[in-house]
Amino acid sequence: MTGFFRRHTEWTCDGTPLSVVAHTFGTPTHIYSGAHLTERYRAYDAAFRDVAHRVHYAIKANATLGIVRHMRQLGAAADANSGGELEVALRAGFLPSEIVFTGVGKTHAELERAVGLGLAAINAESLGEVDRISAIAQAQGRQAHVALRINPDVDAGSHPHISTGSRITKFGVSLDEARHMVKTMASKPSLKVVGLHVHIGSQITSAAPLAKGAAVVADLARELMAHGIPLEHLDVGGGLGIEYQDHQAVVSPDDYAAALLPIVRSTGLTLLLEPGRWLVGPGGALLTQVVDLKRRPDGKWFVIVDAGMTDLMRPALYGAFHRIEPVTSRDGEPILADIVGPVCETTDTLGSARMLPPVEVGDLMVVRDTGAYGAVMASNYNRRPMAAEVLIENGAPRLIRRRQTVDDILQWDL
Ligand code: LLP
Repeated sequence: MTGFFRRHTEWTCDGTPLSVVAHTFGTPTHIYSGAHLTERYRAYDAAFRDVAHRVHYAIKANATLGIVRHMRQLGAAADANSGGELEVALRAGFLPSEIVFTGVGKTHAELERAVGLGLAAINAESLGEVDRISAIAQAQGRQAHVALRINPDVDAGSHPHISTGSRITKFGVSLDEARHMVKTMASKPSLKVVGLHVHIGSQITSAAPLAKGAAVVADLARELMAHGIPLEHLDVGGGLGIEYQDHQAVVSPDDYAAALLPIVRSTGLTLLLEPGRWLVGPGGALLTQVVDLKRRPDGKWFVIVDAGMTDLMRPALYGAFHRIEPVTSRDGEPILADIVGPVCETTDTLGSARMLPPVEVGDLMVVRDTGAYGAVMASNYNRRPMAAEVLIENGAPRLIRRRQTVDDILQWDL
């Protein structure tokens, strides 16, 4: 068994008791199961084995170098979403030819760097950006590889804050605009149009909207190729959801592939995928310690822990649900509790109205499925140092990011 599971009475990561991790590294700490990340990557990759494809790990989901390196060693390529993530990808050992670069609002400096490196593709988001890439490529005497991000105007059926594929969002260009743009792009010697890109959102739990988005770009690709514009790939983005709650219905990579492959195969193009959450989400958890307990007049408890919205923003930002369990369960009457952090915001609640076994100050708790969009979205609000990060590799815990100190934070203040 890999990942987070209970052995005897205690939660473990790949069999390492979480109390051992807490004693060695303190709390709060993000913990990752190397074996689970490996298993997920292999399962995702295998689902697409019947077509020429590349899995570009979406670094934004977890950009800690130890995790990004792990993904590279498994054979992934990379999807970077900012100048910072581009440098992470390079430092983790990816070749420029293995990196696609996405993102609304790329700066001049970021584009200069991207063009200079000769990336696999810059996923362009607007007409203006295409012009800027072209001018930079011309000035550098290079030909930039560009894919155009299409906004297919489909509803991802996900949380509105993480949906990107409807025409009211800021992402990509419309089909009509794309038709004209690609033809102009193809005529510029400074640009090579290598593909089309689409990403309609995240935590998508059925294949239908993903397939719909892919069909829009596949149709456009066919149309463009019929007009003599050669393309190399279709990049269908990320978006596959995970099971945050017990028995939550989610689509598997195999079912996703079954919906996608007939659409993509007929184009003859290489399929690029940019999964983040599905690969790294369930393989991570946040380990925290109870620092206080309070009982409200109505009988409900507040379990106050040393991790908060600064360590895991998802509940506060999207009302997201994460399972929370005591690392070792005590016997006794269950309690109804809100598990809250120490930050002075009412929204600093990791879990609301949960039935828990009784807990005491000093007990350890584990917040599940935080491997994606957990540590990466941390902040120093309330001058709280960011948590340590530990990767379990071959059965042994390794510190992959040391805990910040207040001195670390203050060193930037002049
Ligand atoms: N490609 C592009 C262009 C993206 O914008 C994203 C995520 C991905 C790939 C990876 O998507 P995934 O496979 O992870 O769904 N912070 C939010 C999620 C934001 C996702 C942003 N884009 C959350 O915590 O739910």
